[in-house]
Amino acid sequence: METKWIALLCSAAGLAFAADPAATTFSKNVAPILQKHCQQCHRPGEIGPMPLDTYQQARPWAKAIRQAVATRKMPPWFADSRYGHFSNDVSLAQNEIDTLVAWADAGAPEGNPADLPKPVAFEEGWAIGKPDLVLEMPKALPIPARGTLDIIYLVVPADFKEDRWVQAAEVRPGNRALVHHINAILRTPDQRTMRNLAPGVPYSPPKNTKFTPPPDGWQPDSEFFVGYVPGLFGKRWPEGEAKFVPAGSDFIFQIHYSTNGTAGTDQSKIGLIFSKEPPKQRVLSAVAKSWTFVIPPGDAHHEVHSVVEFASDVTLVSLQPHMHYRGSDYEYKAVYPTGETEVLLRVPKYDFNWQLTYFLAKPKLIPRGTRIECTAHFDNSVNNPANPDPNATVTYGEQSWDEMMSGWMEIGFDPGKNVKSLFAAITGPAGGGK
Ligand code: HEC
Repeated sequence: METKWIALLCSAAGLAFAADPAATTFSKNVAPILQKHCQQCHRPGEIGPMPLDTYQQARPWAKAIRQAVATRKMPPWFADSRYGHFSNDVSLAQNEIDTLVAWADAGAPEGNPADLPKPVAFEEGWAIGKPDLVLEMPKALPIPARGTLDIIYLVVPADFKEDRWVQAAEVRPGNRALVHHINAILRTPDQRTMRNLAPGVPYSPPKNTKFTPPPDGWQPDSEFFVGYVPGLFGKRWPEGEAKFVPAGSDFIFQIHYSTNGTAGTDQSKIGLIFSKEPPKQRVLSAVAKSWTFVIPPGDAHHEVHSVVEFASDVTLVSLQPHMHYRGSDYEYKAVYPTGETEVLLRVPKYDFNWQLTYFLAKPKLIPRGTRIECTAHFDNSVNNPANPDPNATVTYGEQSWDEMMSGWMEIGFDPGKNVKSLFAAITGPAGGGK
């Protein structure tokens, strides 16, 4: 009896949910989903390989779209939905996947163009809107046709005459075909980083220099501000929160160029929107990072830990796990002073090609004494198709054949507070893998 009921219920639910293939059309059912979840990348000039704005553009891709959404390869979103809520979650609901699948299975009918939703008016050029200030690399940099290029650093002078608060920031590549990623790092006037480097002149750090891990509780001296990486459309910090740029600061671009057979040039830029009034909270990048791991050759599941401990109340704004080609999964866990724990983000299948930032739907209070512990696994076996060399013993390093284990995060705090007072030195056992 009971099983019968369940069967009945299931089939009723099945009927209710299964989109009627005959009635599923591009104009009525598919276009609204593409607008909401796909066109930010799949439109001319953006990173998606083909535009999906119109029926004519989408029709030839119906089967590929079916495949990409059914396997959840598209849209790119890697957070385990059981943990946390994120404001930039682009993932599809099951009924949206069902609609796209039903449409492809029905032969991708157009339907009545009168049913089409109004096209989305995307901001041209800058995703954050029109910047108040644009800073550009001083001159175009020539990029060769071939070869693997080292990561370079380059100073982009800013000449800020007064302190500024930044509400939104975005990096735009000058040449999308050649820029793999750019990290814009803020250098404040008290920092020594690359002081001898003339503006616009590229610099690659020497290889195989002996590396000394920094002390426990280490936090970056120069701030990771915003990046251009696949899947990030600039950053707009929540209302009342902003990043601080002291007078006399510059930006340093860390750039990874990829070659594609055709030589070219690149002149990338960063756009900033300033806060209209001083913020209630200052936003800062922090990191739980491991420097000392050693991944043995062939190890398919090597575990590494990192931790950051807060000595002040802060709020958590965003999370960005970072590893290279051997990274396979990543988790952030808060261990509160009460001993309670909470998973903040789990990325069960990390993909180096997508460096996503996960913005918390609501900034979360992290009380003083909380530790944020990160756990990562690396696959250094032959089964990892992205593995540059399964025979290598892999340690910390900047180049993509080395590895990193960095739990980046952005925190908010009272702007009057000294940055150094936010972080505790790491003492307890969980610091072991640091
Ligand atoms: C954050 C940007 C982004 C979003 C959002 C996005 N895509 Fe993509 N898409 C890409 C990029 C970049 C590629 C090419 C690289 C790859 O395949 O991973 C791609 C590849 C694809 C492909 C494979 C094309 C091929 O060569 O086979 C399909 C199909 C696709 N996307 C469909 C979609 C659909 C449908 C959505 C929305 C439901 C979507 N994408 C959302 C960026 C995006």
